[in-house]
Amino acid sequence: MIKIKTREEIEKMRQAGALAAQLLNYIEPFVIAGVSTQHLNDLCEEFTRQRGAISAPFNYHGFPKSICTSINNVVCHGIPSADDILKNGDIVNVDVTVILNGYHGDTSRTFLIGEVDEKIKNLVSRTEKAMYRGIAAVKAGKYLSEVGKAIEKYLSKFGYSTVRSYGGHGIGSEFHEEPFVLHHFSPENKIRLEAGMIFTIEPMVCIGQNYEVVTSATDGWTVTTADGSINAQFEHTILVTSTGAEILTVI
Ligand code: MF3
Ligand code: CO
Ligand code: CO
Repeated sequence: MIKIKTREEIEKMRQAGALAAQLLNYIEPFVIAGVSTQHLNDLCEEFTRQRGAISAPFNYHGFPKSICTSINNVVCHGIPSADDILKNGDIVNVDVTVILNGYHGDTSRTFLIGEVDEKIKNLVSRTEKAMYRGIAAVKAGKYLSEVGKAIEKYLSKFGYSTVRSYGGHGIGSEFHEEPFVLHHFSPENKIRLEAGMIFTIEPMVCIGQNYEVVTSATDGWTVTTADGSINAQFEHTILVTSTGAEILTVI
């Protein structure tokens, strides 16, 4: 069942979303060569705590850290570590989720470290654009499948594909709720959007046609591309309205 949020819940989601957006803005200048992803984790944890909020990933199904940091061929759920030092030419997705007054705000961006290969820079900028194409497809009365359709249509021009085993998700008082939002066209998402639905759009974009992924047997979390290729992701939490989508993870 997809929850329709009340006016009060929507207001709390706006506040949680704004805090998540502030957190990403805060961390951005620290995302540079030489820094460990553990340090980014600690700064985010402190920022969140100081504002009376909770880092949702920490202990979520046993996840060990407060944010996800996914470098290069890591698709999602990368675990921050003191041993993972960002270096020139890397890309890293920083995915933050805060709980403020019982409601979640979930957003991520992929950052470039120093000078990044042109092909990879293009992947990153097109991934962000793909997310906005998906957001632009949202409106009460339309099908949820329009989101994946718009993303797929845009990315196919470049020969890119999106990961299928992970997707966007409903969000509210729970971190992950229905619906499961696909980033490619599928009749599975033939669901009518209604004003008051809230979900994330968070395409994980592969540079080629191979969208298969593998989960680490060692840590049980880190998801990488099966072929070792680079992957980029952006994420916003959005509210369905009668005129379109309101992005909640903005300031
Ligand atoms: N923030 C991720 C998402 O966009 C979920 C992370 S779950 C965790 O859905 F346990 F890895 F933190
Ligand atoms: Co999410
Ligand atoms: Co997220």
